[in-house]
Amino acid sequence: MTSQPVESTPITSAADINLSDHAFWLRPPAEREHAFRLLRELDKPAFFADPEVPYMSVKGLGYHALVRHADILEASRNPEVFASGQGGATSIIDMPAEFAEYFGSMINMDDPRHARLRRIVSRAFTPKMIKQFEDDVEVAAASIVDDLLATGSGCDFVTEVAARLPLKIICDMMGIQESDYGFVFDRSNIILGASDPEYVADAESIGAALLTAGMELQELVQRLAADRVENPTNDLTSSLVNANIDGERLTAQELGSFFILLVVAGNETTRNAISYGMRLLTLNPDQKRSWLEDVDGRAPGAVEEIVRLASPVNYMRRKVTRDHEMNGNLYREGEKVVLYYWSANRDENVFDDSLRFDIARNPNPHVGFGGPGPHFCLGAHLARREITVMFRELLRRVPQIEAGEPERLFSSFINGTKHMECTF
Ligand code: HEM
Repeated sequence: MTSQPVESTPITSAADINLSDHAFWLRPPAEREHAFRLLRELDKPAFFADPEVPYMSVKGLGYHALVRHADILEASRNPEVFASGQGGATSIIDMPAEFAEYFGSMINMDDPRHARLRRIVSRAFTPKMIKQFEDDVEVAAASIVDDLLATGSGCDFVTEVAARLPLKIICDMMGIQESDYGFVFDRSNIILGASDPEYVADAESIGAALLTAGMELQELVQRLAADRVENPTNDLTSSLVNANIDGERLTAQELGSFFILLVVAGNETTRNAISYGMRLLTLNPDQKRSWLEDVDGRAPGAVEEIVRLASPVNYMRRKVTRDHEMNGNLYREGEKVVLYYWSANRDENVFDDSLRFDIARNPNPHVGFGGPGPHFCLGAHLARREITVMFRELLRRVPQIEAGEPERLFSSFINGTKHMECTF
C-alpha cells in the first residue's frame, strides 16, 4: 500500500463515488473537491456501505454522508437525535469495546456523561492557566522561527515548524517533560495516522498498534498523575487529579482517555492547519501580500479562512436515536450519519467562490471546529491563538518563506500533511 496518489478511473457522476473505498482517499485534492461537489448537488445525502477495517470485525449497516452545510448545522444542533455516544463519533464503524478504555473520552459520549466530563475539564482550564499558556505560545513560536532561520535555507516545514508548537504547548499544559515530547508525538501520529504505512507499516496490525499507543500514553499520564497527587503544580494534570472542582474528580480511566483525546486532538489538527495555511499562502501570493500589509489586523480573518479550507478533521460520525426528518429527508433509528465538515466548508450555497482562499472572507461560518452543539471544539481558542502567533512570527521574520509540494497523509479522517519542504 502506498500513501501517494494512484492512477484511478475518472469520476464523472456521483454514482462513481464510494467514500468507503480506501482508494478514494488517495485521489489528488482536485478530484476529492470534484467528488464532494457532486455529492452536494444530490437531492438527498448519498448512502454508503461501511468501509472494510481489518481490525474491526463487526460491520454496521452503512451511513448517510452529510455533505451540505445546512445538514451539518442541523444535526449538530440536535445531539439527542444524532448521538456521539452510541458506538462513537470518531470512527464510522462502532468502536470495539476494548478501544473505549483509551479512546472513549467525551468526544465519544453523550450528555449527561459528556456534560459532566466537559464541566470538570473546563473548570480546570482556569483563566490564570490559559493566560500562562498564551504567553508560552509566543515564546515557543519565536524559538521555532529562530531554529528555522538557523537552517539558513529551509527544512521540512511540518516536522520542524508546524508540529512543534502544538506539541510543546499541549505537553507543557499537562506537565509532560521535554524529554517525552518525541514519545507523545510518535504515539499521536500512530493514533491519527494509523492508516498511513509511514506510521503503521502493515494494515493487519493497525488495531494492535492503536491499542499499544493508547496504553503507552495512558501509562505516561498515570505516572504523572500519581506524582501530582503528592506534589501538585500549576499544570492541568494537577487540577484534574485533585478534587478541587466542586468536589468532582476524574477517575483514573477518565483521566487517561481524556489525556489521549487532548494530545491527539490538540496536536495533529493544529499542525495540519499551520501546514495547510503555509501552502495556501505560497499558492496565493496576493493573499500573502495582503496579510503582510497588516499582519495583526488581518490575522483573525486569515486564521478562520485557513481552518475553513484546511478542515483538519474531515468528519465526525453520529448515530440516529429515533426516526427523524431533517431538511426533507428521513433518518431512521439506528442508522448512522457522517458529518463531512470538510465538504460543508466548501458548500457553494454558503461560501461564495468557495474554493478561493480569501483572508478577508466575511462572514465565514465554517464548521472546521465542529458545528454548533455540545461537542464544539474545546481547544478552538487555543488553536486560533497558536495559528495566529505562528504566522505572525513567520510573516514578520521570514516573509519570503515558501512551501513546496505537500506529502499528504493517507487517511479518510484527518486532512493531513506529513512532510513539506519550505525554502526562504
Ligand atoms: C485547528 C485545530 C483544531 C481543529 C480543526 C479541531 C477540530 C475539532 C472538531 C471538528 C471537533 C468536534 C468533534 C465533534 O463534532 O464531535 C473538536 C472537538 C474537540 N477538540 Fe478540537 N480541534 C482543533 C484543536 C484542538 C486543540 C488545540 C485541542 C486541545 C487543547 C482540542 C481539543 C478538542 C476536544 C477535547 C474536543 C472534544 C469536545 C467535546 O466532545 O466536547 N482541539 N475539535
